[in-house]
Amino acid sequence: MSLFPHKSFLSLNDVSTPELRELLQMARELKQEKRAGVFPQRLKHKNIALLFEKLSTRTRCSFAVACKDEGAQVEFLGKDDIHFGKKESLEDTARVLGRFFDGLVYRGYAQKTAETLAQLSGVPVWNALTDEEHPTQAVADLMTLEEHFSHLAGLRVVYLGDAANNVANSLMVACAMVGAHFVVAAPEKYWPAKEYVAQAMLHCEKTGSTLTFENNPTAAVRHADVLYTDVWISMGFENQPGAGDRITELRPYQVNAELMKATGKAETVFLHCLPANKGFEVSHEVFEGERSLVFEQAENRLHTIKALLLRGLV
Ligand code: CP
Ligand code: NVA
Repeated sequence: MSLFPHKSFLSLNDVSTPELRELLQMARELKQEKRAGVFPQRLKHKNIALLFEKLSTRTRCSFAVACKDEGAQVEFLGKDDIHFGKKESLEDTARVLGRFFDGLVYRGYAQKTAETLAQLSGVPVWNALTDEEHPTQAVADLMTLEEHFSHLAGLRVVYLGDAANNVANSLMVACAMVGAHFVVAAPEKYWPAKEYVAQAMLHCEKTGSTLTFENNPTAAVRHADVLYTDVWISMGFENQPGAGDRITELRPYQVNAELMKATGKAETVFLHCLPANKGFEVSHEVFEGERSLVFEQAENRLHTIKALLLRGLV
């Protein structure tokens, strides 16, 4: 299983397109294994620390259950549990944790923190969400779409709302890697950072997929196979200047029945990384509707994270 030269997963950049495809295949097999009650304990005697500076339900539980399914021990280190960032520097914490644990999972603020942990701990680090990226989410999103459509290349994925956030950055790059077309539907100030656009464009050149920016939501969703949204204010951004204006600015991008209809396709599906703020970025009707795959998508976090753990540790 360890065909990968780099063991940390901080970003989509840490895997090639063939490796990403292999991870998706592995995750499908792991899902079947779990359904069949097969637990080979490939991570027995491994110890994994979950270092979380922000709240989490799906990502935390995915890492915890995946570790337990594979026989590893997990230690949850919340923001008030250890000296990290208070009495002890990031650099010292990384070097200490690397002596105790076989791998570290980090959820927090700066992408740079995840990189420093990986550089100084000497053990694989998984990015469980930073302000800039949410790469494990994107892998689960691709898995969910491939399960549903049986292919990824050529799908038209439209991301509406705050596309300047971690989920959009990672999803945009992931779609470009597998040849899915990605459309950003947002006011220009909420478009992804140039750095991530450049990364995605490099993949688009290889796969032939496209990256489009639209501020008209109705035009953006035309022919979409997938409408994807996320919260309008991400964790850690609640008190930023202008946070209150987002509701007014992003209201036209709410995924609702009208926008689902405007795709012109009865088969368009809805995805959301969750947790959702129903009535804001998505209507109750679409969230609960039959085209919503959000709970399958949430479950797939577990199988894809298990694949990523095995990739890093076996
Ligand atoms: N989608 C996601 O990362 O959810 P949590 O914040 O609950 O982990
Ligand atoms: N963009 C959201 C994703 C939560 C899973 C946030 O960072 O809060």
